Amino acid sequence: MSRPLPDDLLKVPHRRDVPLSRLTTLGVGGICRWLFEPTTELEAQAFVQACAREGLPWRVLGGGSNLVVLGDLEDPVLRLAFPKETRREGHRLTAPASHGHIALAEAAAGLGLSGLEFASGIPGSVGGAIRMNAGAYGREWIDVLVRYRFLTPEGALVEKAPEPGEFSYRWSFLTGGRVVLSATADLVEGDPVRIRAQVAEYREKRGTSQPLSKRNAGCIFKNPPGQSAGRLIDQAGLKGLRLGDAEVSREHANFLVNHGHATATEFAELMEQVRTRVLEMHGVELEPEVEIWRE
Ligand code: EPU
Repeated sequence: MSRPLPDDLLKVPHRRDVPLSRLTTLGVGGICRWLFEPTTELEAQAFVQACAREGLPWRVLGGGSNLVVLGDLEDPVLRLAFPKETRREGHRLTAPASHGHIALAEAAAGLGLSGLEFASGIPGSVGGAIRMNAGAYGREWIDVLVRYRFLTPEGALVEKAPEPGEFSYRWSFLTGGRVVLSATADLVEGDPVRIRAQVAEYREKRGTSQPLSKRNAGCIFKNPPGQSAGRLIDQAGLKGLRLGDAEVSREHANFLVNHGHATATEFAELMEQVRTRVLEMHGVELEPEVEIWRE
């Protein structure tokens, strides 16, 4: 991006030349030239409005747990840095989009509120989780989401309840320049000891079936209807398939792990090889859950 950025955009807190390896859980990627980190909704709105007015392309980054970036990012990147405070009203809990997803599940458990236990092992930010309707163990965000705030691509602030067609399995309409700002979950008051025990059980399950001790980006492909991507990849004999330091996990085949010095290109190439082999072997087209950004 060669043209200078407008003054009102530059008033939004930002950093220059941040390595994407520090912003993504896989620890790969080039340099983010412009990382904008608004600390308030108004600053986030100013960012989106300025980019819209100038016709500047930009992207939004959450916890970086579902992302592979190929090369450097020259366009501005938005990463919300709102204070990590939750607000409780009765059995409803509101969190800013930049709140850690696992931390929110823990906060809910600490308050004796049940309903977010499923979130306790899913990394990333609350905004990222809403945006893709994250879920585990048969539960997903749309089961508990009652209100959310977001910015439109033009920078208008909207607060609303979810409606049919806005969320489905690992999908929502909150893409294409829309930015989640906060989410409110409708939870149930429960016994804190029981809730914590459930959280611990989910943790334990994930810890034994998923390679959580290595850098990873969660599940790489969505589960095809009625099937398990992990099982399909496993049955295709791809566990341990390796390109440099990028490997199809030997613990859970729908995870790729970074053994240390993997590159974004290796991950993208490995995903492509897995997709091709599963198509050849099972005739099933896997759809990525992880996003690949190319400048
Ligand atoms: N399986 C294999 N080999 C493997 C992995 C799994 O045969 O290498 C089999 C398992 O034995 C099981 C089935 O596949 O019979 C399903 O596996 P699992 O229970 O691990 O669940 P999953 O469908 O692979 C989903 C979510 C995970 C979430 C778990 C737990 C998707 C794409 N994945 O995995 O979410 O943690 O359920 O609820 O929906 C994520 O979204 O990033 C993610 C990891």
